[in-house]
Amino acid sequence: MIRKIDDYYVLETKQTTYCLKRLKSGHLQHLYYGKRLEIHSLQDCQQQFTQTYRTTGNTVAYSPQMEASLEDIPLEFSSYGKGDINEPLVQITYPDGSFTNDFLYENATISNQKEPLNSLPASHHADQQLVICLKEKNHPVYLYLYYSIFEDCDVIARSSKIVNQTHQSVYLERLMSSSIDFTQSFNVISFHGGWGNEMNKRVNKITSGKLVLSSFTGTSSSRCNPFFMLSDDDTDENQGNCYGFNLIYSGNHYSSIETTITNRTRVVNGISPICFGFEIQASGCFEAAEEIISFSSQGMNQLSDQFHRFVNQHIINPIYKDRIRPVLINSWEACYFSINEEKLIRLAQRAAEVGIELLVVDDGWFGKRNNDHCSLGDWDVNLEKLPNGLKGLCDQVNQLGLQFGLWIEPEMISVDSKLYRQHPDWVMEIPGREHSEGRNQRILDLINPEVQNYIIEKMSAVFRSCNLAYVKWDMNRIFSDIYSPTLKKQQKMTNHLYVVSLYKIVKELVQRFPHILFEGCSAGGNRFDLGMLCYFPQIWASDNTDAYCRSRIQENYSYGYPLSCFTNHVSAEINHQTGRYSSLQKRFQTAFMGNLGYELDLDALKPAELAIIKEQIQLYKKYRQQLLAGRFDRFSQNEEYRWQITTPEYIFRFTSSKTEDASSLQIEEKII
Ligand code: DGJ
Repeated sequence: MIRKIDDYYVLETKQTTYCLKRLKSGHLQHLYYGKRLEIHSLQDCQQQFTQTYRTTGNTVAYSPQMEASLEDIPLEFSSYGKGDINEPLVQITYPDGSFTNDFLYENATISNQKEPLNSLPASHHADQQLVICLKEKNHPVYLYLYYSIFEDCDVIARSSKIVNQTHQSVYLERLMSSSIDFTQSFNVISFHGGWGNEMNKRVNKITSGKLVLSSFTGTSSSRCNPFFMLSDDDTDENQGNCYGFNLIYSGNHYSSIETTITNRTRVVNGISPICFGFEIQASGCFEAAEEIISFSSQGMNQLSDQFHRFVNQHIINPIYKDRIRPVLINSWEACYFSINEEKLIRLAQRAAEVGIELLVVDDGWFGKRNNDHCSLGDWDVNLEKLPNGLKGLCDQVNQLGLQFGLWIEPEMISVDSKLYRQHPDWVMEIPGREHSEGRNQRILDLINPEVQNYIIEKMSAVFRSCNLAYVKWDMNRIFSDIYSPTLKKQQKMTNHLYVVSLYKIVKELVQRFPHILFEGCSAGGNRFDLGMLCYFPQIWASDNTDAYCRSRIQENYSYGYPLSCFTNHVSAEINHQTGRYSSLQKRFQTAFMGNLGYELDLDALKPAELAIIKEQIQLYKKYRQQLLAGRFDRFSQNEEYRWQITTPEYIFRFTSSKTEDASSLQIEEKII
């Protein structure tokens, strides 16, 4: 529930309270975020929050009437120029060149309806929303702060918007989703990595100075996932205070955690302000991404559970809610680019025999795609490899009792492609300069409406060309030589508008093809974030399918993301990424904890191995719906991963050695 009590705003979820106050000056003071407090009256507010602040030493006094400096008051949002000297939420330069911003309270509304974002995806079905409107003291420029509460999940979503009501353009240099000033220091737990090595957990204790968690790849990135946590020293999986933060955004993000010598920690989170700049024209506006925050006083397992329920209920498109995620076989590690109809049908036959439900034809089915040097953009089937076309192949696969799925990479273009020869102006590259390549490919200028239209229509034609049940949407390079021919001199808008355009395209395709199950991918987990999850309910977690590495990767995703979001594949016994052996048992049991798939040449397996796989798939199918909805807890120790999923009827216990080829899966039926 959200309540206004005099000048206080009190936001309550089941187990948490968030509180802020409008000061006489018009600024907003952050008072509290943590374990639920009993606040019913003005007296309760006054008793709870008694701290006062005075201007001291060489700090700046905001005005003769205000006793405290903005440097010392814990604030709900911040901007440079009037005394506050820490990381700001908003930075605008005005036509006279000045960049001091002073936003003061105008009004606030509380409603049961959450305002939708126009340009970006957002959470859905909030219980209530508080919108606070502030006006810049010297310009008719408005800052809106949004707070949405999700009571059952103990989640608060924050975002912000700037509206320019002047008669001229103003220049926005940053608009973050939120800033919160805590009155303590923290351990920061964040997740870093790279290709095939996603989600390494790191803990940094910040006693003073600033830790910035950010990505600059053009995507949310495997280098630093946007999810992070703050905790007290004595917090562990099952006890203690911790906060979680995530962003509904798939591009460059930026989180600054800054602790002052007075033990105050400001957390500012949002779209990266680096190489960012937006001209907001008269009557124009700019929306920040939505940020998700949650608090637990019972350790990180509880915090994860809050995020898991929130993602399943308020992020994932409800059309996928109870849809069974099919067990699939993916052709990539079985065939790489050397696919052909005969091989694929053989794979589908073996797959049908063991109970697999869907065949995914990965890269290599279109143009002249025999390697990664060509053909991206030419989304016409290669009739040498698939002489009966996609429809001919799909019909045969369907006759074998399997659904049919396809890999695509629509944001990309190869220089060696018909599309590049026809439309060199559709590509993100700086005219007249040498381009630095990533996986031998370039990025289409998604900001160009013609390109958006091309992708939507071309993909729609592919999707309609056969009985397609599943699509894997890949994106295999990061950004370089950033330049959108569409934006000309406004290049600092490119990174963000690329993401906005991508959302526009995927939204349209998901709406047009609601029966297709979409899986996100970006060279594995290079775009594993809540933004993509608003459209695609599952994401390929990593190209690394080694069961040892994979346990670590899955465990660390589980801090912020539910098992229903990631897909895990059983691959060859000698792993293609690491060269390490692991038993079928260990590979299966690891992949069991999420959406199960296979990615190996089934035809090369012995009958005894296929028989085991058949049994394993039967086991998975029996429990998968419950598994994906159950409560997930980590009890891992130095030597071993230990996970538990609890559902109303069963307890699943998984253990896997970190160093040896050993694992176990116990399923206990609860006595009800
Ligand atoms: C990267 C993906 O992560 C792989 O699974 C595979 O689809 C390749 N791309 C295909 O090029």
